[in-house]
Amino acid sequence: GAPVEVDISGIKPGEKLTVEWRGKPVWIVRRTPEQIEALKKNDPQLADPQSERKAFPIPDYAKNENRSIKPEYLVVVGICSHLGCSPSDKFAAGPQPSLPDDWNGGFLCPCHGSTFDMAGRVFKNKPAPDNLEVPPHMYLSDAKLMIG
Ligand code: FES
Repeated sequence: GAPVEVDISGIKPGEKLTVEWRGKPVWIVRRTPEQIEALKKNDPQLADPQSERKAFPIPDYAKNENRSIKPEYLVVVGICSHLGCSPSDKFAAGPQPSLPDDWNGGFLCPCHGSTFDMAGRVFKNKPAPDNLEVPPHMYLSDAKLMIG
């Protein structure tokens, strides 16, 4: 499939834009400073905090805590690594029914309850084995992102 060019200038902090790439939904999330800060607290609860597993060939530039080129922007494929459902946004921080007490926002898969943080990293002891895939991408300018 052809690369997809996306204008990201309209995404406000805390918002998500979904685009299609190779028939898959790709999420572009502009994280708030609080959401970026909160990522640091999650590591002990995550299955693969540094994205070291080989299940998905994650690009080198996303092998960091934010799993992204720019800390502010998360770019991931919005498909659960368990059986392929599409997780929902749970960007609000704080305790929510049926979620871990120290949940500080991310994505919740409605099919079997897997939870992911704001970097698409999966929490331990959930059916989903792996973090959300990071598609190959690059910034053409501050406002233009190319996926693929
Ligand atoms: Fe997401 Fe099963 S498909 S938890």
